[in-house]
Amino acid sequence: MKKHIIIGKPINHSLSPKLHEFWFKKHNINAEYIKLEPNENELENILNKIKTNEIFGMNVTVPFKQSVLKFLDDKSDIVKQTNSVNTIYNKNGIIFGDNTDVYGFKQSLIKHRINLKEKTVMILGAGGVVPSLVCALLDMKVNKIFISNRTEEKAKSLSENYPNVEVIQWGKLENFDMYINATSLGLKDTDKIEFNYKKLNEKKIFYDIIYNPLKTNFLKEAEKLNHLILNGRDMFLYQGQKAFNLWHNIMPKVDDELLRYLYND
Ligand code: ATR
Repeated sequence: MKKHIIIGKPINHSLSPKLHEFWFKKHNINAEYIKLEPNENELENILNKIKTNEIFGMNVTVPFKQSVLKFLDDKSDIVKQTNSVNTIYNKNGIIFGDNTDVYGFKQSLIKHRINLKEKTVMILGAGGVVPSLVCALLDMKVNKIFISNRTEEKAKSLSENYPNVEVIQWGKLENFDMYINATSLGLKDTDKIEFNYKKLNEKKIFYDIIYNPLKTNFLKEAEKLNHLILNGRDMFLYQGQKAFNLWHNIMPKVDDELLRYLYND
């Protein structure tokens, strides 16, 4: 039985076990996938279980995507660029860390046929997921990325690591092509982001990284004004697809059957 785990805090809400169990069954893989909410001081021990094959595959979510870095033997180039790990496995006897969030975000845009070449993008937030978004956007050849964060210092230090990234004051708004909410504002029904939608002069794209709820207030307001809206569900599914591929060398399908199973769509 191949053991998989996801570590995070909180972790109860995670849909990853359900996602991967669907694919294990589809591909006749004898495996399990469990959730774990460890303390920081347990991480080293848990990662060592990758080396001994006690754990076959691991996903990492908030707040451990950076803190597991020091326990890896080696990492992919994308991890080096983003300093963010979400997938770990045993690669030729060593603990190897990879990042499938970049792929997940990019693939979600490709699915919706969104071409961002030469476009301008504003990201709200400067937390752990933002370097992955920036890497994907730069790869998609955007013209410029603007990062706006309540704590401006965090946006500044992030922007220094990448070309074509500028900081914009929190609460300030200009006309860009796409707006991404990468803050945790929106997880609660009462969460509202101060956003002056009236200032926008044409149809824009609004993307919320959050996938539970599927429609945050950020997206609801944008939809009322006929902007194109996208939630974080596809990014979640595609990051999982790529993680499964790294572990099992199979590219599982993201299709209607999977959506029906996960969400009763
Ligand atoms: P971390 O910063 O530990 O990686 P995260 O959940 O990835 O955590 O990021 C949370 C993001 O949501 C941050 O950009 C945070 O802004 P700060 O850096 O100023 O804390 C943002 N955020 C959370 N609550 C917010 C609020 N009430 N108003 C504005 N931004 C908020």
